[in-house]
Order: sequence, then structure tokens, then C-alpha cells
Amino acid sequence: MRRLGLEREIVDRQLYDQAVKRFAERQVALPTFAEIAEPWRAANRLREALAGVDPDAADPRNLYRVNWYNDASRKGFTDVPEHVVLPSELTGTPGRILVLLADRFPLVSCHKVLASYGCLAPRVVAGQFDPASQRAIWPSTGNYCRGGVAISRLMGCRGVAVLPAGMSRERFDWLARWVEDPSDIVRTPGTESNVKEIYDECNRLALDPENVVLNQFSEFGNHLVHYTATGRAVERVLEALSDTGQGGELAAFVSASGSAGTIAAGDYLKERHGSEIVAVEALECPTMLYNGFGEHNIQGIGDKHIPFIHNVMNTDVVTAISDRATDRLNILFNTGAGRRYLAERQAVPEQAVEALSSFGLSSICNMLAAVKYARHRRLGPDDVVVTVATDGAAMYASELERVAAKLYPNGVDEVVAGEIFGEHLAEVSGEHLRELDRRERDRIFNLGYYTWVEQQGVSVEEFEERREQRFWRETRTIVGDWDAMIQEFNERTGVLAAP
Ligand SMILES: Cc1ncc(COP(=O)(O)O)c(C=O)c1O
Repeated sequence: MRRLGLEREIVDRQLYDQAVKRFAERQVALPTFAEIAEPWRAANRLREALAGVDPDAADPRNLYRVNWYNDASRKGFTDVPEHVVLPSELTGTPGRILVLLADRFPLVSCHKVLASYGCLAPRVVAGQFDPASQRAIWPSTGNYCRGGVAISRLMGCRGVAVLPAGMSRERFDWLARWVEDPSDIVRTPGTESNVKEIYDECNRLALDPENVVLNQFSEFGNHLVHYTATGRAVERVLEALSDTGQGGELAAFVSASGSAGTIAAGDYLKERHGSEIVAVEALECPTMLYNGFGEHNIQGIGDKHIPFIHNVMNTDVVTAISDRATDRLNILFNTGAGRRYLAERQAVPEQAVEALSSFGLSSICNMLAAVKYARHRRLGPDDVVVTVATDGAAMYASELERVAAKLYPNGVDEVVAGEIFGEHLAEVSGEHLRELDRRERDRIFNLGYYTWVEQQGVSVEEFEERREQRFWRETRTIVGDWDAMIQEFNERTGVLAAP
């Protein structure tokens, strides 16, 4: 089980002791998974100490900001995760679409730091990673590797980003500022859906024992951190809405799947609220829906394969959204003409228009899928569909410029805005949505065989055991063990005991 990061005990005492020494020197304390899910459990003084710390600084104390409870300034904390309930003027459905806003997260303004932390911290406290000598390798199509490089810096170790050369300029600019050495950015051929090329590069890097690959598509830390933290964050928002009389019945959690980490929040919510889990992909790369493949521009999702940590047999609905829609809505949501159109012609309340700047391309995709699902199920004002805005529009300014110049060379005006709204919001089509029965779930599950057993060397037994929910329930019990290990590790470094 070592390869999949599921250790419940220290596996290498020497590495462990080296990590303790390094973290003591660098004054790095690690939050537990429980503290990430409910940050008020952490000692007050840890949060107070953050008051003077820039949320984007390479300061280890920022690890205590890796949670859903950062406010809009990203410097302070909230009692309830930041969110928006989208008005029906925008969505065209009476069903309530609740979106958690992840651009409040520290370091990368995206919740992927959760996944990066959730994969590396258990390795450190299990003696599987020496921060002084080894390099953490972060394969990704963008945000996970940025999160990984940032988390590595905070933990005093070297991180390497492995990502397709065709990803957005903003991502590379950011990485260039954060890596220790330019060679720590490894560019693989292709774009968004060229994950096989990323795997090949990681397999090459893994030949060197100084490299530890943290594969978000197969590390259960990614699933578990979203299960505990994102699941709980959604629940906290629902509780707060109920307290103010704006609650409703949770119908579904909707998430476009990249590594299938975020969608684990759906497993948490399904257990407690009986809600459905809706997986989303790009229509131009409809792997789950149609065994399809292809290129698309919804950066961060849809990588032509089924992640090992996707609990496919617990997924209820699969749907697809076109990048034609996300590219164009990015223009509608983030240009003056588009925003004016929404506010003046469609009477979208100002606060909701403001919130749209927190919607990057995959966030728009999530929102459209939530709308599609709400229409499909004919949900009403007492029903809530939840999704997340994984990152904000700031990450796609160059994409907006490129697409707008190509599609609308004469500029974006009210007519263009009206066309985009009419085609991609007012008329969200009900096509490309499938409710999954046992046979359909098996079909999607089986697709994973080719990646994981044939290409990546997972045994058939390890592959198959995930078909049963027993496996997932049992796996989740590891979180308590990890938290105990994190606490013990912190005691040994003595960092939390320091005045
Ligand atoms: C912008 C963006 N959206 C969505 C996702 C998908 O999230 P997950 O990998 O948790 O499925 C990612 C993943 O990297 C992402 O970067």
C-alpha cells in the first residue's frame, strides 16, 4: 500500500527523525485533517499569529490558512465559508445553486492547496519523505502543482511542477516566481488532456530515489482531505443558511472531475444528507459519458482517464459542458459590457455580478452543470444544488483576451453579451446528462483498468477492491490515525509548544 500513500504507521524511522529535525529548525507545525475541516479546533494563538502574515508569503504559518474559512481579503477568517447563492435571474432555474468560493485560499487562490497538503503531510509523518534531501514531484495540469510547489516551500523542501507546456501563461509566471530552480518546472507535451505524457515523465523522474511523486490522481490523501474538509465546509454553509431561514434540501453535490479529489465532498454529503453526486466533464472530452477523448479548454478537468481515487460506484449522474460555453461566459462575466448587460438587462443583483469574478473556467463549468442538473430534476426553490468555484477569473485573463480577440474582433458590446447569455445561460441544454445505473457505473469503473492496471502497474486486486463501498468506508478510518501521527510529529518538533 506504500505506493498509494495509505500508511497508518511510521515506515522509516530514520527519514522520520530527519523530517522532525528539519521541521523543528524551520519552525513548521502541521495542522491535522480535523483542524483543516474545522479550523476553530486549532489553538487560537495559531490563527492570531497569522494576522500579520501575508497569505501569499512562503511562511510556514500559512499552513493554518489551508482551509475553507478565509475571508474575501484572504487575511482574516470567517465563521462560514465564503459562498454565493446564484439568483434565478442568472441561472433560469428556481432551484438554488450554492457555490463555495475557493479563490479565498492562500498561496494559489484556489482550493488545490488542500489536495497538495493532503498528499504530502501524511507522507512526512509516516517517514516516507525527507524534506531535507528529497524532492516532491507534483504532476498536474496546473493548480495542484502550484499548490504543491507552495506547500513544499512552506514545509522547507523542494517541489517540482510537472505540467503540460500548453497551460495558461499565468500558471507558468506564478511557478517561475516560486520554484527554487528553473529546472523545477518540467514541461510535458500537449495541453489539458495530455495526462499520459505527465505520467510518463513522472515514471522517468521516479527512477531517481531522491524524487517522490505525489500523484493526485491516485493519492487517497486528495480524496480524504476533500471528503473531510470540503464536505464539512458545504455542510457548514447549509447550516448557516438554515439558521437564517434560507436553507433547503440538499439535492446534489456537483463537481467537474480533474483528479476527482473535490468530488469526494459528495461522498461525505451523500452519507449524511442522502444527496446525489454529479460528475462533470468537458463535452469535447467525454470520457465518462461516451468513452470519448479530445482537446478542450476547461483547464483543470477532464483528462481522458478515470482517476484511481474517483469513487465511481457512488456517482449518480454524469454530465458534460462544452468549452464553447465556458470560454464565452468567461467573456460575459468579466468584461464591462457583459457585466452591465447582466445587471441592467437581466436584473442580476449587483452582489451576484460581483461574485462572478471568482469564477474561472472550470467554476463556470460547475455552475452550468449544476443548472443543467437542477433543470433535469425540475428542482424548486426549496432544493439546493452545491458546487465549488475552484479558482477565479484572474487566472484566465490571457485566455479571455485570446478568445475575445478571435471570436469578437470588433469588441464585446451589449449585442454580443446578449447572444452569449441567450445561447449559453438562458438555454442550458438538457443533453449529455446520464443517470447512472449499476451497469453504467461498472462501465465507467472498468475504463480505469487501462490506465491503472495496464499502464501504471496497479494490481487487479487493488483496482477491483474499490468497486465496493466497504473499501471506501474502511479507507476513511485512516484519517483519525493520520491526525494522531500529525499530533505526535508536532510534539516531537516542539514547534507548537514554543511561546
Ligand atoms: C481550475 C480547476 N478546476 C477543477 C479542478 C478539478 O478538481 P479535482 O482535481 O479536485 O477533481 C482542478 C484540478 O486541478 C482545477 O485546477
